[in-house]
Amino acid sequence: MQQSLFKKKSIAQAVDGADRGLARSLSAMDLTLLGIGAIIGAGIFVLTGVAAATKAGPALSLSFVVGAFACGFAALVYAEFASAVPLSGSAYTYTYVTLGELPAWIIGWDLILEYALACATVAIGWSGYFIRLLAGLGIDLPPALTHAPGDGGLINLPAFSVMLLISVVLAIGVRQTSVANAVIVILKLAVIGIFLLAAVPHVQPANWEPFMPFGWSGVMAGAGLIFFAYIGFDAVSTAAEEAKNPQRDMPIGIIVSLVLCTLIYIAVTVVLTGIAPYLTLNVADPIAFALAQIGEHFAAGATAIGAVAGLTSVLLVMMYGQTRVFYAMSRDGLLPAVFSEVHPRFRTPARTTLLTGLLIAIAAGVLPIHEVASLVNVGTLAAFVMVSIAVLYLRRAQPNLHRPFRTPFVPWTPILAILSCGYLIASLEAITLWRFVIWMVIGIALYFVYARRHSVLAQA
Ligand code: ALA
Repeated sequence: MQQSLFKKKSIAQAVDGADRGLARSLSAMDLTLLGIGAIIGAGIFVLTGVAAATKAGPALSLSFVVGAFACGFAALVYAEFASAVPLSGSAYTYTYVTLGELPAWIIGWDLILEYALACATVAIGWSGYFIRLLAGLGIDLPPALTHAPGDGGLINLPAFSVMLLISVVLAIGVRQTSVANAVIVILKLAVIGIFLLAAVPHVQPANWEPFMPFGWSGVMAGAGLIFFAYIGFDAVSTAAEEAKNPQRDMPIGIIVSLVLCTLIYIAVTVVLTGIAPYLTLNVADPIAFALAQIGEHFAAGATAIGAVAGLTSVLLVMMYGQTRVFYAMSRDGLLPAVFSEVHPRFRTPARTTLLTGLLIAIAAGVLPIHEVASLVNVGTLAAFVMVSIAVLYLRRAQPNLHRPFRTPFVPWTPILAILSCGYLIASLEAITLWRFVIWMVIGIALYFVYARRHSVLAQA
């Protein structure tokens, strides 16, 4: 029994059984852009406001530094796996070849919180910005069509529609997806450039005082919240089977995108808290809002457009990540076969992409998602902890495995990843942790009811 729950695929077995015809089209540059596409989104454009006003104050930039450390350790761990096990499925696959089937299932189930729920959250953030842009053009949608039932409406139609649209783009092709992503990323970076250029001359050092109104605990609570801003660098690793040279390019994509985004985040938060008193920032569009406050209306409008674009690319990459995790789980028999069927013409898992997109669209359209948004953080942090344990295990179990990229300072880097992510988990609210536990219990039950009995490995 115990053996069967922890049965593993060997890495060679996993690589051999993998090829189902996904197109290999992504370069190191594409992967880095994919990372930036997934990372810069609701975290910086939306959550910075509430985090500055209620958690960290002007010291929000320190929260971003703390978040960057936790993610940096995790990214170095992911990079080793992505180069040694260049397969679809990210943390799920890494766990399958190291810790075994049940832990892998648990991580796969957990990643639904990260990818699917992040999509739903970001789609609703997107909808907020989009509605404001339309209002700026004099177009007002009826409230029944812009709010979820729990918030007094019928459906959040923009959130629902954007999610469906994203699924269609993804179903058509990965090359098209990555081109669309690259265009959006360039726009998003340009808009951040505009923000910095317009805002820097207005910085007033007085706004940085008091620097830490809520003390260190505020900085840490801020880090727990804005951790969301960093989520996504690991989505690069779900693209391993569509990369031209995954062993070299995966670590580049993961690490370069994270480093660039960290620098951008710190610059943006230092400047943002320098142009506006932190207490005024508790709004849904803090960056555009702060620019408008200092009279930079053109830059404010441009930032709002950039935010809509930026959130779109987050949706694209996170949704992509979700379908590739499902694809990998289905290939292993843990999910029904439809999740790993590759469309003969598009060479993507088109059917499952549309199906998953529809489910997330419904969730984004009808759920008051703000309550469960922190579930995304806990799900992701749990995955980071598990992957760090797996890398420690693999170093012992298979010391001679070919690792084109090696995590530096093992065991310290993975241990620091476990401690820092564990600390951030502990700083989340009890209700979030309970919801997480319930989600996991449901997942484990499904494993015994379905996955275990259909596992390809078990049948072999
Ligand atoms: N990091 C992504 C965002 O901030 C999920 O939207």
